[in-house]
Amino acid sequence: MKAESFEPLPTADGSPTLLHPAFGEAYSSRYGAWMQANELYLKLTQTHLHPSPRVLEVGFGLGVNFRATLESCLQHGVYLEYLSYEAFPVSREVLNSVELPLSALAQKIWAGVLGDWPAEPHRPLCLEGAWGRLEVRFEDATQAFFPAEWATAIYFDPFSPKVNPEPWQPHVLKKLFLATSKGARLATYSVAGGFRRALAASGFVVRRVSGIGKKAWTVAERPEV
Ligand SMILES: C[S@@+](CC[C@H](N)C(=O)[O-])C[C@H]1O[C@@H](n2cnc3c(N)ncnc32)[C@H](O)[C@@H]1O
Repeated sequence: MKAESFEPLPTADGSPTLLHPAFGEAYSSRYGAWMQANELYLKLTQTHLHPSPRVLEVGFGLGVNFRATLESCLQHGVYLEYLSYEAFPVSREVLNSVELPLSALAQKIWAGVLGDWPAEPHRPLCLEGAWGRLEVRFEDATQAFFPAEWATAIYFDPFSPKVNPEPWQPHVLKKLFLATSKGARLATYSVAGGFRRALAASGFVVRRVSGIGKKAWTVAERPEV
């Protein structure tokens, strides 16, 4: 898909997002792309407090959540392991068009991601350094094998169940539960009732929390025992 097909949209905190031409939805919240990455995915999963975070993400998208998590881990001096699944990757040109307020070190690492971003995504992207490790698997999360009992956090970030129902299916949620370590948290922006019940049926303890504006978010935890 051509770069000009992705319409740029400013969000309320001044950070940019893009409108996906086929799904018809923005990659991040209109209340703030950077805010959502930090307040919802990073903080509600408590990844900002974790001494050795291992994040599993559904939907790498524009790498906003990755960049927010990377920045936090650099500030706290912790090693980040980040595994993301992306079925419909954008081009390097599109990825490069979404600029975020990063420190010089985070920007340098992001430039490495852009440099390695494949033109034909047949193989996973793997990038490693003293900061941690990023792997993006260009696979459909509904079909993919997730590592067992690995993740300390799940960033569950497909497009909405209305336009992108496949990843929200109960069998995918069960696979995600099995990919978590004990005490891990999953965060997502949807509070749809059927989805929350399916999360609970998978084994998660599910809570609805206040988001920004009138929006509510979902946090789910894998119990310690
Ligand atoms: C809301 S955007 C993700 C935004 C992203 N987390 C970020 O920080 O920029 C949703 C993403 O999920 C991806 N996606 C949709 N269905 C998928 C599936 N079955 N498996 C993996 N990725 C999927 C889309 O291609 C899109 O990039």
